[in-house]
Amino acid sequence: MVDDDKRLAAEAALGEVRDGMLVGLGTGSTVAFLIRALGERVRTGLDIEAVATSIASARAAEAVGIRVRDFAEVARVDLTIDGADEIDAQLHAIKGAGGAMLREKVVAAASTRMVVIADGSKRVAAIGAAKLPVEVLSFARRFVTARLEALGAAVTVRDGVTDNGNLILDARFDTIADPAALAAEIDAVPGALGHGLFLREVDAAYVADGGVVTRIERDQRG
Ligand code: A5P
Repeated sequence: MVDDDKRLAAEAALGEVRDGMLVGLGTGSTVAFLIRALGERVRTGLDIEAVATSIASARAAEAVGIRVRDFAEVARVDLTIDGADEIDAQLHAIKGAGGAMLREKVVAAASTRMVVIADGSKRVAAIGAAKLPVEVLSFARRFVTARLEALGAAVTVRDGVTDNGNLILDARFDTIADPAALAAEIDAVPGALGHGLFLREVDAAYVADGGVVTRIERDQRG
């Protein structure tokens, strides 16, 4: 069951949380299992504080008794645990199906260590099949769309706005042959505020497949 694997991956990553840590909470259905399990640990005496990558995660954490600090007042996070839409053996990931990738990337960058939790369906040989979300200034929507199309993407505008009040463009590429080059191209487009390519942020991943959790460490990747 996918949900069992999400829970197992979350519980495995929880083993890295220590008293006194400031923990970054990602966003999404896998992180929801993490937040519930972390709340249990806090109830039984674990002494941590958290920052959240979305309003939804902040609310969920507070609801289970986790102290949540305002990330705007924080420069360093000890450990961030987050989900992913795709992750490969190089620990390259695509994130942002839930629309939180901009805050997720900021919090990941502030973190001493960032780990991904995922069920086996997220593990891929090479990232690129998932749509790549790009958060855009609404003023720049058409311009950024044209730039993404020029890079080979089919682009759709997602309904609604992010926690930051911006739009999301979902860019679907046939393949992403050179993720680093694509990330650099998108980073250079004015009005594109952030995207879901996480190429250097992830230090480790806990992937649960059929009840078996595998940990992939950046230092040990094959
Ligand atoms: C949120 O914007 C995303 O980056 C999520 O972390 C990612 O989509 C994984 O979500 P699930 O755990 O719900 O699959």
